[in-house]
Amino acid sequence: MQPLDLVIRGGTLVTATDTMDADLGIRDGRIAALGDGLEAERVIDAAGRLVLPGGVDTHCHIEQLSANGLTNADTWESATRSAALGGTTTVIPFACQHRGMRISEVAREYHALAAKGAVIDYALHLILADPTPETLEQDLPPLVEAGHASIKIFMTYPAMQLDDAQVLDVLAKARELGALVCAHAENNALIAWISQRLIARGYRTPRYHAVSHPRCSEAEAFQRLIAMAEFLDQPVMIFHVSTAEGAAVIREARGRGVKVWGETCPQYLFLTADDLDRPGSEGAKFCCSPPPRTTADQEALWRALALGDLQTVSSDHAPFAYDETGKLAAGQDPSFKEIPNGLPGLHWRLPLLFDAMVHGGRGGLGSFIWTTATEAAWLYGLHDRKGSIAIGQDADLAIWDPERTVTLSDAMVEDRTGYTPYAGRTVRGWPVTVLSRGHVLVEDGALTEAAAPGMGQFLARKAGPAAEPTGRLSPEFDPARNFGADLR
Ligand code: URP
Ligand code: ZN
Ligand code: ZN
Repeated sequence: MQPLDLVIRGGTLVTATDTMDADLGIRDGRIAALGDGLEAERVIDAAGRLVLPGGVDTHCHIEQLSANGLTNADTWESATRSAALGGTTTVIPFACQHRGMRISEVAREYHALAAKGAVIDYALHLILADPTPETLEQDLPPLVEAGHASIKIFMTYPAMQLDDAQVLDVLAKARELGALVCAHAENNALIAWISQRLIARGYRTPRYHAVSHPRCSEAEAFQRLIAMAEFLDQPVMIFHVSTAEGAAVIREARGRGVKVWGETCPQYLFLTADDLDRPGSEGAKFCCSPPPRTTADQEALWRALALGDLQTVSSDHAPFAYDETGKLAAGQDPSFKEIPNGLPGLHWRLPLLFDAMVHGGRGGLGSFIWTTATEAAWLYGLHDRKGSIAIGQDADLAIWDPERTVTLSDAMVEDRTGYTPYAGRTVRGWPVTVLSRGHVLVEDGALTEAAAPGMGQFLARKAGPAAEPTGRLSPEFDPARNFGADLR
């Protein structure tokens, strides 16, 4: 046997399904051996620690031009360094098309930024805001072929929103190319209508951001999206589910056999609309869309995760500093319509979830790994390399001290927002050592010199089983039954 480069010795290795007290050997960036008495020149002592797959964060915005015209606060370097500190070793951010842009050019630009700055490995979703024939027929096929196997669409945000016919166009093209479609699904008219009335009557502080996203705007858009996806038999992933009603819509559709997946985020499990009602403009720190809701919704989302109605928890890291470059770009007293949407979360997602799931009775360690790494990788076609501990997988690992308690604070922040929405919260369990393809990026909770820009590699991927159609076309669409010709 060739010598190992590194051995993690004496820890408890845990996957979504198995636990073993064993050494783990790494060669050429991959897991090469599991067993007793492994030797290498470099050894990490993991006695008393849990050795887990590194986290896979499948929804985060990095150095992205967003719907409000502002670019996120983070660079690829700052975002992925903060991810590594929180135990995450793979991210899937976006290459974001705005109207009038060529998605081929957009993808090139985002690739250049990522290659220069990323500290950990990454894939990219493609945001389509302008699904013209040029986008769908010329630019998209080679991009999917080159490993961008997921497309994101917005059903709200006037600058990005697709109308229903455009949603159908994207779903049909994704089906043809074999890509998963992910959606920000809210009813834009409901939001715009109530927002305009709130502002006109002087209800303008951050707390009204939550009021301006009625609960039904989520459930209605989910239903509409699912109807279109079911009609075309194209699998969809619904991003950032925030309400009990939204989760129920997904549950009902899945019960009928529709291939719809669901994601929620820490902000919907740990924050509520009351956080937007903090003094002065501080509520701006918690303005994201959809907004945090109620403790009853939190319970419903935990239940939906436990039942498998929702499959994954991503950060939806969308960083804006709490200053004039970000949250307060419109002044010290912005109306809720002037506050850029989004929260930082790459650093906080796993510690919050570990504390709640492993120590707080919300599913246990196996579910934590499944939800935050294994199934996350599987959903997006990364499971051949990421998301578990097995011979041949990339040596992307987080070594957790399951008992270390940490009180989250703004002083810990590595990203460029300068704040954490979870300041003051104490969590038990912390990723003290983090490896990406065998490189030790974090040691005793601090970044090492190896956490350098350009370390991360692009993960070209084909859509996995999650994106495969069921084969059950709706009778009205099935060309063989009705038209004798392919409608697409
Ligand atoms: O408020 C949020 N979530 N901002 C980020 C962009 C998006 O909507 O996903
Ligand atoms: Zn969104
Ligand atoms: Zn997002």
